[in-house]
Amino acid sequence: MILEPEKFRSFELAGWQEIPAGYHQAFGALTTQAIEPLLDAVRLKKAMSFLDIASGPGYVAAVAAKRGATVLGVDFSTAMVAQASNLHTGVEFREGDAEKLPLGNALFDAAAMNFGILHLGQPELALLEAQRILRSGGRFAFSVWAKPEETIGFAIVLRAVELHGEPRVELPEGPPFFRYSDPDECSRGLLVAGFESPTVTKVAQTWRLPAGDGLFNAMTNSTVRTAGLLRAQKPTVLKKIRDEMRASVEKYAKGDSVELPMPAWIAAGVKA
Ligand SMILES: C[S@@+](CC[C@H](N)C(=O)[O-])C[C@H]1O[C@@H](n2cnc3c(N)ncnc32)[C@H](O)[C@@H]1O
Repeated sequence: MILEPEKFRSFELAGWQEIPAGYHQAFGALTTQAIEPLLDAVRLKKAMSFLDIASGPGYVAAVAAKRGATVLGVDFSTAMVAQASNLHTGVEFREGDAEKLPLGNALFDAAAMNFGILHLGQPELALLEAQRILRSGGRFAFSVWAKPEETIGFAIVLRAVELHGEPRVELPEGPPFFRYSDPDECSRGLLVAGFESPTVTKVAQTWRLPAGDGLFNAMTNSTVRTAGLLRAQKPTVLKKIRDEMRASVEKYAKGDSVELPMPAWIAAGVKA
């Protein structure tokens, strides 16, 4: 596998520029479930300075502001920054790359990245950057999905592609999507970046989507890499994948919705 960080970054950026509304609609009620554990992991309290990295629609930043912190959110997508600013007036959001933050050293008491690390071509750089912008004693936490065996939304789409499609399509090569779904890899990443006392804890989350094509639509319209994988399939194949996904979600039906288990890991460390 040849990693192409610049091509991968451009692919991700183009994707995120397109989908703020779709992401907010499909993922908002899911990724917000990790916010309280993330903010608890960095021990966020009133009057602390806090950076939300890869802030997307600004969910973490908004809750941090409610806790009384002084907050900044950064995201490399101008469309996401605009959406976050509209959703949370009074919270500051700025364009910025997690791998090269446009911020000085030792400015923040705490920082977090909610489901951002798996979208980065060079996540090690982002961990170093999170370390750099923290004050001594400051804490950083990030969340990632648990492995696809447990995150049923991913299990279903990946199995459907494996059964009916071509899983090895030509997309810019990035790091494995589930690399940090392993608690040892989370701890190792934090330690290599210079953080101390890493902790990794699992949180239960549930993804409620419309029954039928809700999962297929969410994956097609509100993701970047998975959507790329789906869009690269031939129309006849895509129909089979869609039918397979419809059938697989039925088991999780609750009335007009499906409720899919989507647990996450919260990894945290302290800057010495
Ligand atoms: C899965 S969304 C997470 C959004 C948000 N943190 C949440 O709680 O739902 C990933 C976000 O990471 C951003 N992103 C991806 N690569 C980035 C990078 N290199 N620098 C900054 N933001 C990035 C995307 O624009 C997107 O808003």
